[in-house]
Amino acid sequence: MGISLVFVFMFSWHLLINAFSVSVPKEKYKACYGSNVTMECSFPVGEKLDLRALTVYWDKKGKFLVKFVQGEEDFKIQNSNPRLRHLTDQLFKGKSLLQITNVKVEDVGAYRCLIGYGGADYKWITLTVNAPYSKINHRIKVDPVTSEYEITCQSEGYPKAKVIWKSGDQDLSSKATVKYSVGQEKLFNITSTLRVNTTANEVFQCFFQEKDTGKNTSAQIVIQEKTASSKIDLRNYFGTLGAVIFFGLILMFLCCRKKRCENDRHREKVSF
Ligand SMILES: *[C@@H]1O[C@H](CO)[C@@H](O)[C@H](O)[C@H]1NC(C)=O
Ligand SMILES: *[C@@H]1O[C@H](CO)[C@@H](O)[C@H](O)[C@H]1NC(C)=O
Ligand SMILES: *[C@@H]1O[C@H](CO)[C@@H](O)[C@H](O)[C@H]1NC(C)=O
Ligand SMILES: *[C@@H]1O[C@H](CO)[C@@H](O)[C@H](O)[C@H]1NC(C)=O
Repeated sequence: MGISLVFVFMFSWHLLINAFSVSVPKEKYKACYGSNVTMECSFPVGEKLDLRALTVYWDKKGKFLVKFVQGEEDFKIQNSNPRLRHLTDQLFKGKSLLQITNVKVEDVGAYRCLIGYGGADYKWITLTVNAPYSKINHRIKVDPVTSEYEITCQSEGYPKAKVIWKSGDQDLSSKATVKYSVGQEKLFNITSTLRVNTTANEVFQCFFQEKDTGKNTSAQIVIQEKTASSKIDLRNYFGTLGAVIFFGLILMFLCCRKKRCENDRHREKVSF
């Protein structure tokens, strides 16, 4: 049976016996990229659940994700996406739970649960995904002709972020060019390049700012003195120091990323 047929059938059923209704404790879920999320629809079970009278469908964009008919799960459908699981052990409590593990950008969208049990009803749930721009790569190039500096920051995340450039209190964003592309696993790959005339020791910062929340991650770039051959030892020293700082930053970012996600999850719980 196609989705529209099931839908028409169940909806007319709903009009006939409209005492039955499906409810959702939460209509909007926000999940961190790579985390797990469980979306919930609930329905009245009465005294004791009669599996033979129960039908549960979940669909998204016209595709079935779950088909649970009279106590039987259609595993052909579930096996087509191994990251999805219908947690049937909560059905007796009147809860149909759809779990997505290792959330990806492709999971973003509107989900519908359609439940028949005596009567029939459905609800929509939307899922958004957030992948922080936690690792920022940067590069400095000097134009040999004009001596202008070209500073580039690149990172991947989701959704699309705005790149802001600062040097001290000065906002240099309008002088930068930005390139968006779709990178690995549908994440946005953002490359922003700033061209400036500058001198040694000037400090630049690039910020990747989330549009909806204003949260940002940033990288700091210090213009090094142009190295002469006599400064090679010093350069090695700074190279080593740089590497130590770099790995320290990576550790910090990993830590922060985890914490941000945990904070998000915590906030989610509080709001709901
Ligand atoms: C997500 O769920 C899977 C399978 O249940 C589990 O192995 C994994 O540790 C979970 N990941 C997180 C981030 O909770
Ligand atoms: C991101 O974009 C930059 C510039 O367009 C490109 O050099 C880089 O390979 C891309 N990275 C990924 C992971 O796609
Ligand atoms: C750098 O300075 C030169 C000469 O003063 C000027 O022509 C050029 O536009 C400057 N470049 C930038 C990016 O400001
Ligand atoms: C980046 O975030 C910090 C801390 O939340 C905030 O103080 C700062 O104003 C933000 N910067 C930009 C450019 O958005």
